[in-house]
Amino acid sequence: MQNMFSCLRWTNELMLLMFFVGSLISVCLGDIRSDVNVLFGGDRVKFFKERRRVDLSLDQYSGSGFEFKKSFIFGKFDIEIKLVPKNSAGSVTTFYLNSTHGTSHDEIDFEFLGHLHPLRYILQTKIFTNGVGGREQRIHLWFDPTKDHHKYSILWNPQVIIFYVDDTPIRIYKRNRGVLYPNMQPMTLYATIWDGSDWATDGGKVKIDWKEAPFVASYNSHNVDGCVWAGSGTKTYCNSKSPPWWKKIWTLSADEWKKLGWVKKKFMIDDYCDKKKRPLEC
Ligand SMILES: *[C@@H]1O[C@H](CO)[C@@H](O)[C@H](O)[C@H]1NC(C)=O
Repeated sequence: MQNMFSCLRWTNELMLLMFFVGSLISVCLGDIRSDVNVLFGGDRVKFFKERRRVDLSLDQYSGSGFEFKKSFIFGKFDIEIKLVPKNSAGSVTTFYLNSTHGTSHDEIDFEFLGHLHPLRYILQTKIFTNGVGGREQRIHLWFDPTKDHHKYSILWNPQVIIFYVDDTPIRIYKRNRGVLYPNMQPMTLYATIWDGSDWATDGGKVKIDWKEAPFVASYNSHNVDGCVWAGSGTKTYCNSKSPPWWKKIWTLSADEWKKLGWVKKKFMIDDYCDKKKRPLEC
């Protein structure tokens, strides 16, 4: 409720802003049923009456997914997810941005890799720019992500990408000099669940157990605050004489750096930055 009211108030302020600024476009989305299209899986994408929650399920015939109708050029994207309980080995649950309207491939991903109960979920984050990936980081979470909904967010602006879990930063990717950075094309937001048995769990050694199907992940309370892409032929950047708050972020606060340090120290399993030849952005 709290969330919804602040959302409404904010929309009003934005309308005022838009009146004065003209082309600054931003949205506040609350009703998931009207904000997304079913991408695949038919009625495995299940909407709920309160219109803020949608469940995705996976069985031996299909996974499922939805995509947001609008595409964005930068923004802050939040959604709450409750992951597949118990044995989720082989399944992959996602929330990500993909540059499906562009010429080259950019992607910013949360991927939750299923596990054999009672082991723990692995959260993998990925960044592709200009078709180049290989920037995976993997962490465990500091809570059981199958018990409740937790908030997962991507902040993406011209100078920095930050991944958050319940507002704790788990990764920052800065556009330092010489770093490849996704800033040339719009991105669309997706959420999916699918069978990743060939790689997701223990490098593909543990397959999905269909006796446990359907595998259900629940999404809730999204909040998308971005610069809406107006369609092909339009300029890449939103006009922002009065930039939205998420565009003014350049780095983490001292407190956030501390938290990120804690995450890396306690929960990081795998980091592409730990190479002999350290990538520029690391
Ligand atoms: C992202 O979009 C590209 C096409 O631009 C596609 O090849 C790729 O499979 C998509 N990635 C995901 C995870 O959907």
